[in-house]
Amino acid sequence: MKTLWLACLLALAGEVSPLEVCRYQDILDYLNLTRNNEIFTSTRPGTDWRRPTVVHLDMYLYAILQVIEKTQTFTPFIWVYLRWNNELVSWNPGEFCGISQVAVPTEFLWRPDLGIMEHIEEMDKIFMMPYLHISHHGMVTLEDGFRVISTCKMDVYKFPFDTQSCDITFISGIYTDRDLRLQPSSNSSWLTRGSLRFLQKQGEWDFVNITVAREKISLIGLQWDSLKYTITIKRRPLLIVMHFLLPILFFLIMDLSSFLISDTGGEKLGFKVTVLLAISVLLLILNDILPSTSDQTPLIAMYCIVIFAFMLMSVLETILVKYLLDRDTIAQPSPNDDRIFQQEAGRGKSSFACVCSPGGAATCEQACPREGVTEYQVLWLIVQELRTLRGNYSTHTMGWGETRPRKWARIAGRINVAFFFLYFFSVCLFLLLLFLEWTA
Ligand SMILES: *[C@@H]1O[C@H](CO)[C@@H](O)[C@H](O)[C@H]1NC(C)=O
Ligand SMILES: *[C@@H]1O[C@H](CO)[C@@H](O)[C@H](O)[C@H]1NC(C)=O
Ligand SMILES: *[C@@H]1O[C@H](CO)[C@@H](O)[C@H](O)[C@H]1NC(C)=O
Repeated sequence: MKTLWLACLLALAGEVSPLEVCRYQDILDYLNLTRNNEIFTSTRPGTDWRRPTVVHLDMYLYAILQVIEKTQTFTPFIWVYLRWNNELVSWNPGEFCGISQVAVPTEFLWRPDLGIMEHIEEMDKIFMMPYLHISHHGMVTLEDGFRVISTCKMDVYKFPFDTQSCDITFISGIYTDRDLRLQPSSNSSWLTRGSLRFLQKQGEWDFVNITVAREKISLIGLQWDSLKYTITIKRRPLLIVMHFLLPILFFLIMDLSSFLISDTGGEKLGFKVTVLLAISVLLLILNDILPSTSDQTPLIAMYCIVIFAFMLMSVLETILVKYLLDRDTIAQPSPNDDRIFQQEAGRGKSSFACVCSPGGAATCEQACPREGVTEYQVLWLIVQELRTLRGNYSTHTMGWGETRPRKWARIAGRINVAFFFLYFFSVCLFLLLLFLEWTA
């Protein structure tokens, strides 16, 4: 009678009837679900050990944080949904004001000990979410987002026009496939669509798709169930093209255009060597980007090395042409000519001496050279000087006092033209082949 009176009073006050149990805590009390209840935490929650626990898993890509080719690590931020049935937990929502789901601290219940095979840091950093949901059927759902630092074998052959596929494999630590089955709850196209919607940050990379596959992994005579998610990403090449490929191409064009610089004098050689040095600085940057453990020589390395080799050849050609031209200028006052001049000078001296000696006059004596320099000799020195000047400024004109063209200058000119065309066509062919290979 007294309790009924109390119930009426509470109902009047707008409170729910004390006979009803509507708190979440009531469900925990009903289930005897507490932090230290070992029934729920110590063993796999099945009523028959022969029936494995099926864990449904979904993984979405949330961000691509870092991809390092050098160390072959792929660091995504992923979001994982886990769902499994706990046969020890169930209640009738009708008895609890229709509560069909309750969130409890994660450590109240058994959880599958899933790990990621490719993860290279301590596992306890992942699956840290403090709560999980239980439905009245006993379906437990857990979701968590975390960073995975995974190893990923990257193929940089086509860098920077490459596509990388990195795996993230979920596997249980101790439960073999007799106890624990892993199942994807969504198909690949669904996961890809979901990831595209969630994706926050991609950086240098474009997300392509996620595929999921179930795999059995055999170890020490036992079999494990695993779920392999393959994330495919594609590099955005613009940055590398702008900062690396184009500058090298520009240097190559500069080298090609340097054929217009005159071969005489040292400017051409200096210019070419400077361009070559600039390329070798860029090669150092490449060394920073690419991993040293590539099986195949990456195309970008080929690009650099071959262009470097082309430019080296062009420097060598310039040196050769310069050498030939120098030979011309040295060869032009040939020893033969010099001898004739010497003789001429000697003859002059003697003839002067002849003129001078018979007269014996003082004027004649003064006209004779004091230090043995005759007019012929002076003339010869002037001619010599003129010849060097002429040799320096116009190598392509005819030799001194003769009508025959300079032999070496002509050869050098031919080498120059032939080399330029050969160089130009090899460069074009090489770039074309490389481009085809790169975009294949
Ligand atoms: C609830 O669990 C505790 C151990 O955590 C146990 O001592 C107690 O007897 C259980 N109560 C019921 C009603 O099962
Ligand atoms: C993937 O799953 C979604 C819903 O989960 C479904 O609509 C779609 O048809 C499935 N696609 C394939 C290829 O099975
Ligand atoms: C994902 O992308 C890769 C590479 O583009 C392709 O080979 C594969 O078929 C794609 N998978 C799906 C499910 O679309």
